[in-house]
Amino acid sequence: MSGGSPTPAILDRAKNLVDPAIAAALGGLCDELRVPAEYHFQGRGKGTRPALAILSAEAVGAPSDTGVPGAVAIELIHDFSLIHDDIIDNDAERRHRATVWAKFGIGVGVVVGDALHALAFEVLMSDPTPPRVKATKHLANAVSGMITGQSMDMAFEERSNITLEQCLAMEQGKTGALLSYASSVGAILAGADDEVVEGLAAYGSHMGIAFQAVDDLLGIWGDPERTGKPAGADLRERKKSLPVVIALNSGTSVAGELADLYGRPHLEAEDIEAARALVDVGGGREGAQALARTHLDLAMSALDSVTQNESVVAEVVEEMCSLAQFIVGRDF
Ligand code: IPE
Ligand code: IPE
Ligand code: MG
Ligand code: MG
Repeated sequence: MSGGSPTPAILDRAKNLVDPAIAAALGGLCDELRVPAEYHFQGRGKGTRPALAILSAEAVGAPSDTGVPGAVAIELIHDFSLIHDDIIDNDAERRHRATVWAKFGIGVGVVVGDALHALAFEVLMSDPTPPRVKATKHLANAVSGMITGQSMDMAFEERSNITLEQCLAMEQGKTGALLSYASSVGAILAGADDEVVEGLAAYGSHMGIAFQAVDDLLGIWGDPERTGKPAGADLRERKKSLPVVIALNSGTSVAGELADLYGRPHLEAEDIEAARALVDVGGGREGAQALARTHLDLAMSALDSVTQNESVVAEVVEEMCSLAQFIVGRDF
């Protein structure tokens, strides 16, 4: 799913709003945490979640600044999740550089992730107004959802009988929960109606599944020069990512071959290559692309319902549509 829409301007606009606040938050850490944390942030991410947070404030007519504490908090949580995820997934490369654990050790990765987790809540609660308290409660729920999804992802490595429904529930948790929060936190901070907040959250949740479907595809067929992380690592770890689960449940002869391969104690480079081909023949690539499009459509429908509310700014909703299209069309 490459060669999609151009990079939306909101990504840079949100980075400019959020980066100084993240730098200030990291500046308060002790040197042992600050140095590896700053190292992590020097690797530039796409900034999708802060962009969504800012847009969700603007979508209800609030100034961009209203969304900033939520944007900072969700980016800190996202980076905490990535630093821990790379330990869990045994991944030594992200954002075109060595991961925090690979450079500084696993223990440092654990405490730096923990520190970012705590900082996110401190940023939101530095001024405990009622909207910020509400945003903090929603953040705790979102983090719980993400951690539940991550624990399912880990447990699924050892299991061969994962259904499509279970896989989607795992992906909704590990990625949908934070994208759903990002897409609604600005509206929460602006004091918007629950109906609007819920509509934006639904948009983000579907986008999260589409986002993860594309991440799964890039994890198998992506170009490391573009993604900044190696391809094939999910297969090496026997991840039950969406393309793999679709192929395993395809009822084709390759499903059995793939299950046998995944059952081996160790996969060599040629086994990973074979698994990649089996997932493709088993319909995993096409199926995951189709599911990404389905959830993109569902995200758009959720936005359509939000637009019915008279407080919602149509031009900002347009930007949210473009961002969703970019997410599904991206190749990095
Ligand atoms: C990677 O997220 C992890 C997933 C949830 C799929 P991103 O693709 O948003 O990572 P960065 O922040 O742009 O590096
Ligand atoms: C994404 O995990 C979800 C979280 C990090 C919470 P993945 O393991 O699928 O993401 P990448 O591919 O390593 O970025
Ligand atoms: Mg990972
Ligand atoms: Mg993972």
